[in-house]
Amino acid sequence: MITIGAPRLAGMNPDYLAHALSMFKDGTRLSVVMQPVAQRLSDDDMHALATYFSAQRPPLAPAPHAPSANTISAGKRLAESGVASRMDDAQIEASAAYFSVTKP
Ligand code: HEM
Repeated sequence: MITIGAPRLAGMNPDYLAHALSMFKDGTRLSVVMQPVAQRLSDDDMHALATYFSAQRPPLAPAPHAPSANTISAGKRLAESGVASRMDDAQIEASAAYFSVTKP
């Protein structure tokens, strides 16, 4: 399998996607790949792309290897409660919202 390090956008929250593109465009989020792409987009383009990608429902990519039970329970704890020492309440809420929209 070829891995390019690009995130899967399918099914993600459209407001999140549009916001990510606008951050790449205005330079508040840095990426050598995405900034040149985003700089060419209008607000309408960004919303159209966000709507398109959020509506896609491709099959899930196969995991390179099955995660261990420990990894699964650590991920669940992180998504639901965060790491108290590193995240504030708003970040924990954002993390929970993120994982709730990325479920198949
Ligand atoms: C071959 C073309 C592309 C490559 C290699 C690529 C690569 C990447 C990479 C590496 C990131 C992570 C950037 C970071 O945070 O450091 C990213 C994020 C992102 N890309 Fe692209 N990208 C491509 C095309 C596109 C296109 C056409 C769109 C149009 C909608 C797009 C939308 C996004 C969005 C919304 C994110 C943020 C996703 C997130 O926060 O989870 N990308 N891309």
